This record gives sequence, structure tokens and C-alpha cells, in this order.
Amino acid sequence: MVICCWSAKGGVGTTVVAAALALVASKRSERSVLLVDLVGDLPSVLGIPEPEGPGIGDWLSAGEDVPADGLARLEVAAVRGVSLLTRGTRPLAGNERAEVLCAVFDAEPRDVIVDCGCLWRSGDGDADVRRSIAARATHSLLVTRPCYVALRHAVAAPLTPSAVVLVEEPGRSLDAWAVEEVIGSPVACRVPYDPAIARAVDAGLLSQRVPRQLERALRGAA
Ligand SMILES: Nc1ncnc2c1ncn2[C@@H]1O[C@H](COP(=O)(O)OP(=O)(O)OP(=O)(O)O)[C@@H](O)[C@H]1O
Ligand SMILES: [Mg+2]
Repeated sequence: MVICCWSAKGGVGTTVVAAALALVASKRSERSVLLVDLVGDLPSVLGIPEPEGPGIGDWLSAGEDVPADGLARLEVAAVRGVSLLTRGTRPLAGNERAEVLCAVFDAEPRDVIVDCGCLWRSGDGDADVRRSIAARATHSLLVTRPCYVALRHAVAAPLTPSAVVLVEEPGRSLDAWAVEEVIGSPVACRVPYDPAIARAVDAGLLSQRVPRQLERALRGAA
């Protein structure tokens, strides 16, 4: 199963949701999970050292010279039960090669969770590759706040999500029902906006223990 997390507005919590989904899924199923970073922020959010060396961008640019199974050699052990495929050093280019990447993910026995980042206004090669990977996923999760501007972007985004992860801030007038109406997809999870979650990330502690309120919220999606 391939789960892609994406947003239509930056800074809404997409990378935190992708990281926490992987951690919760590996803990619950006791199966390993492949976490894929198409943006480059997952090491910081997980609180692990920045891996050096090649990653997905390098694999895509290498073209057919590198076999599909070469991808497995690029994985790093992030935390127990979670392997990380990093963004690498080269731009994400080559939609044809992205098709091969999707086929590799589809054939994975592990759950694959991908941080596709913000997909509003794709148009550069990097965003196009991230969008086509999100469009091929088993589940494509839009991560959004109940914010008018973010929802406007989501409606204009180049793909319709299979479900929404709503990061709920206190004091907003839009609720989950309004979000479902506008986006036309169900809200699968409601994650509280909680400063304790931001503190856990800032302290580099997310991979050691997912804050309970985040874990509880993501149970429906993991
Ligand atoms: N549920 C939450 N409650 C409180 N703070 C959060 C929550 N989710 C994320 N944050 C904080 O919000 C900030 C942005 O989070 P994150 O990097 O996951 O967003 P993003 O959507 O991936 O951003 P970008 O578009 O830049 O990739 C970080 O400081 C993070 O710690
Ligand atoms: Mg991010």
C-alpha cells in the first residue's frame, strides 16, 4: 500500500503527518515501513542526523543505468521499523523514470508512506514528479488546515485526494463538514494543532515517541 501525503499550502503539517503515520504504522503492525522523502525535511522532523549521499533525485537522474533494485541500496535505517529513502542531491526530474519508481513502490511488501510536499502550482519538473507520484498512490492524503486560502488552493490543485487529514486549529470558523463539502473527499483524521506537537518536533523527539494526541488522531489512517 502506498500512502502519499501532500498539501496545497505550505507549512500546514504535511511532513509531521507523514513521519508520524510511518512511526504509528510500524509500531502498530510491527512490520517495517518505507518512508519516502520527496522534499527533504523528514530527517529534521524525525530528529535524526541528515543523511549524506544519494537519494531519490540521484536515482531518477541516473536513468536506466541504475537498476530499479538499486533503490533499496539508498535506504537508511531511520528508526526501528522505519527505513528512509532520502530526497538526495539532484532535482526530481524525469516523469518516465517516476513511473518506474511508482511501480517499485507498488511492488513493495512494506507499507510505503511518501511526503510529496506542497503540490499547488506544479509546473517545475520537481513538483510535476511529486504530483505524478501522489496521483498514482493507493491513498492520496491532502493535509490541510481548515483555512479559506488553503482550501482555495486545494480546489485548484492538480489532483483530488482520496481523503483529507485536517489539522484543526482553535478558533477557526470552518469545520470538517465544510472541508468535506469544498474538497469533495472525506476527512479521515482530525489532528489537533497542539504546541506540544511542535515542541516534540523542535526537540527532535518525534521518532522517540509520537505525542499521544497525534498518534490517536492518525489511527484511522495508519
Ligand atoms: N499538529 C500540529 N500541531 C502543532 N504544530 C504542528 C503540527 N503539525 C506541524 N506542526 C509544526 O508546524 C510546522 C510545519 O510543519 P511541517 O514541516 O510538517 O509542515 P509542512 O506542511 O510539511 O511544511 P512545508 O510545506 O514547508 O513542507 C513545524 O514547526 C511543525 O513542528
Ligand atoms: Mg514539509
